[in-house]
Amino acid sequence: MFGKRTLSTGTLILLLALVMTACVAPQAAPAGEQAAPSGEQAQAGGGKLEVFSWWTSGGEAAALQALFDVYSARYPNVEIINATVAGGGGSAARPVLQTRLAGGDVPDTWQVHPGYELLGQYVEPGYVEPVTSLYQEEGWEAVVPEALRAMMTKDGELYQVTVGVHRGNGFWYNKKLLAENGIEIGATLSVDEFFAIAEQLKAAGVTPLCVGDSGIWASAQLFENTLLGVIGPERYNGLWDGSVRFDEPDVKQAMEVYGRMLDYQNDDHAALSWDQAVKKLMDGGCAFNSMGDWAYGEFVNAGKVDNEDFGWVSHPGTDGSFMIVADGFVLGNGAPNRENTINWLRVIGGKEAQEAFNPLKGSICARTDCDRAKFGPYHNWSMDSFAKDALVPTVVHGSAAPADFQQALNDAVTVFVVDKNVDAFANALVAAAQSSGFGR
Ligand code: GAL
Repeated sequence: MFGKRTLSTGTLILLLALVMTACVAPQAAPAGEQAAPSGEQAQAGGGKLEVFSWWTSGGEAAALQALFDVYSARYPNVEIINATVAGGGGSAARPVLQTRLAGGDVPDTWQVHPGYELLGQYVEPGYVEPVTSLYQEEGWEAVVPEALRAMMTKDGELYQVTVGVHRGNGFWYNKKLLAENGIEIGATLSVDEFFAIAEQLKAAGVTPLCVGDSGIWASAQLFENTLLGVIGPERYNGLWDGSVRFDEPDVKQAMEVYGRMLDYQNDDHAALSWDQAVKKLMDGGCAFNSMGDWAYGEFVNAGKVDNEDFGWVSHPGTDGSFMIVADGFVLGNGAPNRENTINWLRVIGGKEAQEAFNPLKGSICARTDCDRAKFGPYHNWSMDSFAKDALVPTVVHGSAAPADFQQALNDAVTVFVVDKNVDAFANALVAAAQSSGFGR
């Protein structure tokens, strides 16, 4: 079994791998990558395929459909059941999934993040089958970065096929609104620069920051990004192996900065979902939004143009880091439509599907051989960042720490946004890290 102690050690190895292997250079495709899959003959007869996810926002749904389209072109007789549970970040979907898994009602395949979410919630209880042979058959070990494979591996077996890698520490802005206020953003934005601009905007009657935290994870992500920006990637990684405590001075300073940022958010933040906050930004209701680049999917779905309607920088202070929020799918143990599912994984791990999906989703390919010409300015910027920056795992989206810590963080954030009590916030996270087995 995959006990807490083993998970901590595994995470340490993972984090080392992440920091040390930030060296992916997208290259030309190897010949024959799109060869016809060997298992497809078995599916000539059709049947079904249930795909479980939380991709329901405009951009998310469009990108998911692109995956379905590539699959259906190869397997036209398979009926796809699009099993979605709305709620950004999977906050509503995961409990539904857990109930189904516990009751033996296994979806064929479901959306998952690598790291603790995959290994702790699905591999450890035996809910998924390994897919290592698929990697071997398709030659994916040569094109999927080692840093990603390490996050999906347990005891030498791979358990996930990743379709895209989001950059979690995005900071998006309404370019026209800022220009109207005489503000131009450079290549990077420091914490101090952000606060100076926020003051200026506030004085002009413009809401500086849009937040949509009807799902509290969105505010937790604002904190996660701010934490990375204030303490830097090495110290951030140290939080997950216990070498850094949540009550150390720089971490508390990050909490203070987060609290100050909340002073500039929209009054209706708690009534909005993450994508409604992005829409508010597009509509000129606020200037900035801190969000993973699934926000890009909303811009593109609304017909907005990179560097004209919207711009981006790294979340203040996080330039030089790439917060990994990778999305993939698994093979359910007991999947009712096993062959169809294996072919689904085969398709979404391939270049064609990833080149169709990621431009709409905002993430970059999980393989190094996608054609850069098929991606616009934002994606090329993100690919460069992935290749050269420090890679760090998200806690808010389940990769860096066990699910009980993720929940405790959401709970602590829920309290902090109201009371702004840094000591209580720090103490709650110290206790949660200890009880999750990685904190000291
Ligand atoms: C993340 C997921 C992204 C995006 C986001 C908002 O957990 O990795 O693909 O869907 O939630 O729903």
